[in-house]
Amino acid sequence: MKSMRLDISRPDDWHVHLRDGEALGSVVGDTARQFARAIVMPNLKPPVTTVAQAEDYRRRILASLPADTHFQPLMTLYLTEATAVDEIARARASGTVFAVKYYPAGATTNSQAGVRDLARVYPVLEAMERHGLPLLMHGEVTDPDVDIFDRERVFIERHLIPLQARFPGLRMVLEHITTRAAVEFVSQAPAHVGATITAHHLLLNRNALFEGGIQPHHYCAPILKRETHRLALLDAATSGNPHFFLGTDSAPHVREAKEAACGCAGVYTAHAAIELYAEAFEQVDRLDRLEAFASFHGADFYGLARNSERLILERKPWIVPDAFPLAQSTCIPFRAGKSMPWSIVHGSGQPE
Ligand code: DOR
Ligand code: ZN
Repeated sequence: MKSMRLDISRPDDWHVHLRDGEALGSVVGDTARQFARAIVMPNLKPPVTTVAQAEDYRRRILASLPADTHFQPLMTLYLTEATAVDEIARARASGTVFAVKYYPAGATTNSQAGVRDLARVYPVLEAMERHGLPLLMHGEVTDPDVDIFDRERVFIERHLIPLQARFPGLRMVLEHITTRAAVEFVSQAPAHVGATITAHHLLLNRNALFEGGIQPHHYCAPILKRETHRLALLDAATSGNPHFFLGTDSAPHVREAKEAACGCAGVYTAHAAIELYAEAFEQVDRLDRLEAFASFHGADFYGLARNSERLILERKPWIVPDAFPLAQSTCIPFRAGKSMPWSIVHGSGQPE
């Protein structure tokens, strides 16, 4: 018989885009309502490259939170070829910055300031290895000759394996993994190498991009892959293996930026994140493993205390709104207008 209620420690989101300005105010409540903490991506315009900028951004996030939230934003720095080695010690000592994000230049939204040649940041990586500051990787090559569906696998072969050999003690997270190759790499890696997995990559394969016509709201980076890869991700997420933890990569864009001749990458899932993961885990009858994936493995990886508050889910359907306000426009959320099987029971320790 299917279980109807699920009582778990409050989860954390180890990869989210909260944006800035008005958009921040529109979306941050969705993340804060579910998650105790989140690793906040630094790909703003201009990018967050210093501890001082990260702390300013953190203050703007805290100022945008709905009343009565205890949500803690965990900040990251955007790695560029100009990142100063000294910034790493400052980040480590800050108590506010928890990781550094590596975007290969041109790989995704606001990645132009990213790294073109990894060798140029070796001194910074060496400092991160020494200080134990994790490197969060957008793991895709940008080589236009590599097929878009192979870019993660080729990144592992060309860049990640050599990087790990050069910096064997570097703490690394391969973000939003999408392939069997990534699951295999991370599974055999030491405990200080982890991976985040999104809800949308657990629930969709690449057919969802072209269901009855092109579906811009399913376009994200890394792009959705074949069903065999989705199954490998689902297996990893639900395995109980501590290398794998929750990271939504919820990435809001205004409707016009998605439904365009050249649409942006990003799927908005923060409005229903834990409910979507519950649905994925239920598909393979492993709801009993959701708590470890969503609430324990990431905290353990980052050396942070597990949350003591609870969050209760029940098997009660609800309909996702067709759109949410986003700054001066709207955002079309994942599952817009569709039914969701799991809901959060309010009054269960999390603020409304
Ligand atoms: O789909 C994505 N959207 N992938 C990323 O890596 C960035 C993100 C964004 O910022 O919109
Ligand atoms: Zn992201």
